[in-house]
Amino acid sequence: MNIPTPRFLPSSTPLWSRDVDVVVVGSGAAGLSAAVVASEYGQRVLLVTKGTLRSGSTPYAQGGLAVVSDADDSFDAHARDTLVAAAGLADEDRVRSLVTSAPEVVRVLTSLGAHFDLGSLGLEGGHSHRRIVHAGGDAIGTELHRVLRGALLASDVEIMEHTVAIDALTNDVGDVVGVIAGRVGADSALEVGVISARAVVLATGGYGQAFSSSTNPAEVTGDGLGLAVRAGATVTNVEFVQFHPTVLFSKGHRGQSPLITEALRGAGGTIVDADEQSVMRGQHPLGDLAPRDVVSFTMLQRMNRGDGPSTNLWLDARGIGAKRLAREFPTTLDICRRAGVEPAKELIPIAPGAHYACGGVSADLEGNTSLAGLYAVGEVAATGVHGANRLASNSLTEAVIAGRRLGQRLAHDDAPQRENTRRRGDGRVVGRGVDASTRDSLAVKMSKYAGVLRDRDGLETLLETLDTTASARAEIDLATLEATNLHTSSVLVASAALLREESRGCHRRSDFSETSDAWGHAITMRVVDGEVVSETGAMAGA
Ligand code: FAD
Ligand code: SIN
Repeated sequence: MNIPTPRFLPSSTPLWSRDVDVVVVGSGAAGLSAAVVASEYGQRVLLVTKGTLRSGSTPYAQGGLAVVSDADDSFDAHARDTLVAAAGLADEDRVRSLVTSAPEVVRVLTSLGAHFDLGSLGLEGGHSHRRIVHAGGDAIGTELHRVLRGALLASDVEIMEHTVAIDALTNDVGDVVGVIAGRVGADSALEVGVISARAVVLATGGYGQAFSSSTNPAEVTGDGLGLAVRAGATVTNVEFVQFHPTVLFSKGHRGQSPLITEALRGAGGTIVDADEQSVMRGQHPLGDLAPRDVVSFTMLQRMNRGDGPSTNLWLDARGIGAKRLAREFPTTLDICRRAGVEPAKELIPIAPGAHYACGGVSADLEGNTSLAGLYAVGEVAATGVHGANRLASNSLTEAVIAGRRLGQRLAHDDAPQRENTRRRGDGRVVGRGVDASTRDSLAVKMSKYAGVLRDRDGLETLLETLDTTASARAEIDLATLEATNLHTSSVLVASAALLREESRGCHRRSDFSETSDAWGHAITMRVVDGEVVSETGAMAGA
């Protein structure tokens, strides 16, 4: 399998440059946390972000933070639930580190001015106790991002909005010593510059936009994953894409689709078919609150039965009552009303959609990757805490914990040598990316062949399509960069999904429907000379 891996490096003098200790890429929960703490510890920090500071998935988060805070609950129970969801692929020590540090996240955010709905703990899929801390009812992301943004604006961190990281700068031994970045101008043109830094922190989120329907906003395009593999870093568990069962369905809609929070099912909402019969009854002991992979798969089976629409089902939230809906779910009410649905009286049309990248750049909970000078935190990273499936509401806590830990450790880090970076440049970039006009049709194929249910024939068809995708005709702009990174993410997902001949966590194969002991390990991959290679040998289709 050939993967276009142009290094988008300037061919002569860049148009602008910066020299800092730490460059943080992304302004979600992970990037803001890392930037603020690194700055507190005396580092000269530059934060670049693709859109405004509000870009990324974080502000959209609805459910909450999974935190043990009830006397009947325990760290052991939270760890156990996380490990069960992760289906054998999580790192138990890191899971314990995550769950025991989660209460500290609430304390830190509270000290920054966050208001949580502390009176009532929510319940979400896969959790054996009520332990979801909400804010503003169903607006945890807005509140968390508000206080982290405030901390950033009060810090010494230099901020560049509408600026994208394109590729890593490396020295002669392959250490990362900065990034090539582009200021986004009119018509997605990039004004290319160089940021020299002894630490490059990727906090770019996931790759939900690789699929035709996703809860992720438009700017979440796998840029960190693409940059990391082009620089030679390893990635782990990328086949494990979590599909959220209840994404608002709208016929023919593509791209970001609003989430209908799982907390609605925690409050008694049920998924129903065209006859208003429960879809999950009798399917799993936890019913509508079964793990997301189970619910999404059961929904798919139901939709494919042929006696109703094949595109969607419905969420019945009428039993929750108008008053409680208004009090606890203002965001969801607003989303539904914009779509012309009144949840207190009508069924909400829903279908599974790509939601969370459980895998990503191989990293630990301090952000260390396989390359010196390159760090990854938040959804872009695979830290071993989510394994084959993420437990609901564990990711915001992970993003804050890893971001803060990295911020602290960067103060004590050894700097890679900066000499002999592979710079060329004149503000134009060398290397052809993927033609942006292919993006939509590839996303449709990703949802069809690498969606909730996969098989060998479909994945091979997908890889053939990816292999013959047209190259961009012109030099790099933002649209080309995003299409290239989505293409790279898709190749990695499809390659790993083809290799993993079993069903586990959120990876389901119709031709290998059982979990296999032989696959009780992570697939770690790198791209070498345009070829995807894994620890388990050359990739199928290579
Ligand atoms: P993001 O918040 O996605 O931020 C990524 C940032 O990187 C953005 O600022 C983006 O603009 C920037 N960026 C991307 N590429 C580049 C580039 N090339 N150059 C510069 N900048 C770039 N998790 C929970 O724990 N609880 C929940 O209740 C919950 N609800 C969710 C609801 C929705 C609708 C969604 C989409 C996710 C939800 N999640 C939830 C998951 C969680 O929100 C994300 O995993 C988390 O916010 C990721 O944070 P992050 O900082 O890693 O990335
Ligand atoms: C939700 O509110 O349903 C999403 C929570 C999550 O993804 O963690």
